[in-house]
Amino acid sequence: MSTTTPVSTNTTHASRRKVTTLAFRQKKERGEPVTMLTAYDYPTALAMDKAGVDSILVGDSLAMVVLGYENTLPVTMEEMLHHARAVARGAKTALLIGDMPFMSYQVSVEEAVRNAGRFLQQGGMDAVKLEGGRERADAVRAIVGTGIPVMGHLGLTPQSVHQLGGFRAQGKTASAAKRLLEDAQILEETGAFGIVLESVPARLAEYISKQISIPTIGIGAGAGCDGQVLVTHDLLGLFERFTPKFVKQYANFHEEMNKAFLEYIDDVETKRFPAPEHTVEMTDEEWAAFQKEIK
Ligand code: KIV
Repeated sequence: MSTTTPVSTNTTHASRRKVTTLAFRQKKERGEPVTMLTAYDYPTALAMDKAGVDSILVGDSLAMVVLGYENTLPVTMEEMLHHARAVARGAKTALLIGDMPFMSYQVSVEEAVRNAGRFLQQGGMDAVKLEGGRERADAVRAIVGTGIPVMGHLGLTPQSVHQLGGFRAQGKTASAAKRLLEDAQILEETGAFGIVLESVPARLAEYISKQISIPTIGIGAGAGCDGQVLVTHDLLGLFERFTPKFVKQYANFHEEMNKAFLEYIDDVETKRFPAPEHTVEMTDEEWAAFQKEIK
């Protein structure tokens, strides 16, 4: 854990300008890392926006860390939009990216465009993210063609967990690394404004980042990416099932919640809660009048 606590950018928050996809590109050109985190609800988005994160991803990791599914496959467009709207109500400055769920963009380009549009029209998002490289080139091109910014996602693409044989690192052989580089170049050509690189060797991620003009956002891809993203429930220690090796845990909220709930139960059982300061009272006069009324 860091020994110095960064001061919140709270005071400058009101004057901060909305982060755009152009700002992503400019940050890369200046060599300034782009910061991104996931959020799925209003209070978390509010706190993140106040802290000054560049971008908030309403990730389909929602399925696992909030809804309790085994993987990201079951989450639907309706569920994603429900959470996207909550995040949009909380965050006014960060660039908001809606993660297109499994089967919302794979069946046809038309469906991909329609569902991407729903994230902006009904979810309050500024952009969308989808998984895959060359096989999604047509969909990315079509979505970008309608004026919707698209972020790609390469490497460990969780929606392909069954094809990949589990949540495992990608691009570790020479041929897989070459394919990943080509996919990144294809996404750049199709007009994507950035690419998430998940669980790929650090030197490969750094090489790819140098070969393309759009920013790469790494998760388990080392420090050579143009930005970093983490699943917030991992960072806060809120997701108990497992923590990937690449996560830096900044807090243990699961333990904190557990402590608070135990204390609450004990307080109620021992009648320490509610105390007088948590209680509403009425005047003695009104109480006396009430006693008369019920006689
Ligand atoms: O769904 C998600 O949270 C993601 C991140 C891991 C980038 O796609």
